[in-house]
Amino acid sequence: MPHPPAGPEAESATEPGRYLNLALFKVPAGFRGRPGWYVQLWWVVQALLFRTSPQIAYGWRRMLLRCFGAQVGVGAIIRPTVQVTYPWKVTIGDHAWIGDDVTLYSLGPIDIGAHSVVSQKSYICAGDHDYETVDFAIRGRPVRIGTQVWIASDVFVAPGVTIEDGVVVGARSTVVRSLEKGFVYVGNPARAVKPRNASV
Ligand SMILES: CC(C)(COP(=O)(O)OP(=O)(O)OC[C@H]1O[C@@H](n2cnc3c(N)ncnc32)[C@H](O)[C@@H]1OP(=O)(O)O)[C@@H](O)C(=O)NCCC(=O)NCCS
Repeated sequence: MPHPPAGPEAESATEPGRYLNLALFKVPAGFRGRPGWYVQLWWVVQALLFRTSPQIAYGWRRMLLRCFGAQVGVGAIIRPTVQVTYPWKVTIGDHAWIGDDVTLYSLGPIDIGAHSVVSQKSYICAGDHDYETVDFAIRGRPVRIGTQVWIASDVFVAPGVTIEDGVVVGARSTVVRSLEKGFVYVGNPARAVKPRNASV
């Protein structure tokens, strides 16, 4: 929520040596892509209708996400514990799988390609703050995940990253740079360890 600057705090905002003045923080108009009430409505729907749905109700969750503007392909498997910040900024391809406790932090666009898997507890982070601005400016930065990718458990994918088709990212890896097509990456920061073999 926007926080109006307080008098004395705002006055000292630009004093030399100051890093942050959070009294100046504001979410820019239009940043969320929908009005505030609509965002709150989605969060209520997510808590009451999405998260409580039985695991097998994949069609129901696809429908809820589509109602709130997500593009969700046919046969996408999305678990009830998936957390989606702004569905209208999310695209999930045909037959993609989004596992338990995955967070799609869609301050910016998140695209997940067809037949790709995001395994449990992974955090896809499409936004951050410019830490060199005194008002801690919030930014949406897209994350693009290609087709036939496997992001294993508990992986962090940083804002602005593109993961090309066919990549595998090992469990507990941290992806801070874009990853090239068809390789297996592991570690923090994720590095390529070998090519991924496609079927012949
Ligand atoms: C990435 C992964 C798929 C690679 O499996 P693999 O092809 O059998 O690869 P290897 O085990 O031969 O590992 C290759 C190298 O990467 C390292 N490595 C593998 N996974 C790693 C990981 N998650 N983090 C850090 N290093 C890893 C291995 O130690 C090995 O290094 P070395 O050659 O120096 O010994 C697998 O390790 C992995 O992370 N699987 C995810 C399991 C998971 O999340 N399951 C739940 C969701 S379904």
